[in-house]
Amino acid sequence: MGYHIAVIPGDGIGPEVINEGLRVLDAVSNIYNVKFDFKIYPYGGSHYLKTGEILPDEALKEMEKMDAIYLGAVGHPEVPPGILEKGLLLKLRFYFDQYVNLRPVTLYPNVETPLKGKGLQDINFYVIRENTEDFYVGLGCRFKSDTHKANLNIERKLYSLRFDVKVLANKSEEFAYQIGVISRKGAERVIRYAFEFCRRKGLKRVTSVDKANVLSEIYGLWRDIFMEVSKDYPEIEAEFTFVDAAAMWFVKNPERFHVVVTPNMFGDILTDLGAIIQGGMGLAPGGNINPDGVSMFEPIHGSAPKYAGKGLANPIAAILAAKLMLEYLGEEEAAKAIDKAVRNVLIEGKVKPRDLGGNSSTSEVGKAIAEKIS
Ligand code: IPM
Ligand code: MN
Repeated sequence: MGYHIAVIPGDGIGPEVINEGLRVLDAVSNIYNVKFDFKIYPYGGSHYLKTGEILPDEALKEMEKMDAIYLGAVGHPEVPPGILEKGLLLKLRFYFDQYVNLRPVTLYPNVETPLKGKGLQDINFYVIRENTEDFYVGLGCRFKSDTHKANLNIERKLYSLRFDVKVLANKSEEFAYQIGVISRKGAERVIRYAFEFCRRKGLKRVTSVDKANVLSEIYGLWRDIFMEVSKDYPEIEAEFTFVDAAAMWFVKNPERFHVVVTPNMFGDILTDLGAIIQGGMGLAPGGNINPDGVSMFEPIHGSAPKYAGKGLANPIAAILAAKLMLEYLGEEEAAKAIDKAVRNVLIEGKVKPRDLGGNSSTSEVGKAIAEKIS
């Protein structure tokens, strides 16, 4: 079976860690008879600075026909925040309607968690983050501010809908708003995915995260839908938490979580917390999944420009993202082989990435994992 994979290495450490992911995919490809046809795309900050192009429609059209997208990282120190994030990463998530953001929180052997007294059995759960709604829909505005001038360049299109800058510019009167949106369909599909996922993995509990006590309109709807959907899964325990309490439980009792389902924004924040309790951003992969469309897999860390090009980055998050991609493609055996190889390299400890206290380079870690497979 051959898969067409769009590869966007992106910025900073993205290309280095993606190289190692590709090396490992190559190794499984030989052994498990899964064939890949990779198409590398140049998009990211450097490409944008050179050409002014972020992500052309033709590329999206091409990717529509592919089996998956494998992404490194986007973000460039010379590009103002927001442009690449919205124009590339979020655009891909929205365009392909990747409504599930699956982020496993797994402590691997020989990796230190900052949580005292917690081990491999305690830190082993999944966060399913809604990925297309909430405060990410981009409904917002800033008024009566000079910053309109800056926005003028960034959001030329939106600007035409706004007031005249000079008339309203008056800093002391400045205000802004941003609106979160939850739709019945949008919440239902991701919550249902979480319950199905829980069932498929043989797990017992789905925990919903909200803030229905204060943001009671938007997250009241979320909670109602969670309760409705949970009725279809009587064998699964359904519980709610408020997001502030959930943050506390992540640290105090991570073992209580099996599958956590959360609106977009809270999920963004909680999954960085999840990454750190599993040993750091260098170990945390994510999948942006549309079960009926084109899905995208990425390490959840950013482009870390400070570390770029020096072989300092840990490629394990990117390698585990490749593993998630194989699982999604139905290549369970090959996925398991990657997971096992990562575990074995960590257990042996001869090759150890820098963020875990070792001094192996990005490619040494990738090679060691690929060799374990072959
Ligand atoms: C993530 C990132 C993105 C997000 C940013 C870069 C748009 O933080 O993948 O978690 O907020 O979703
Ligand atoms: Mn994030």
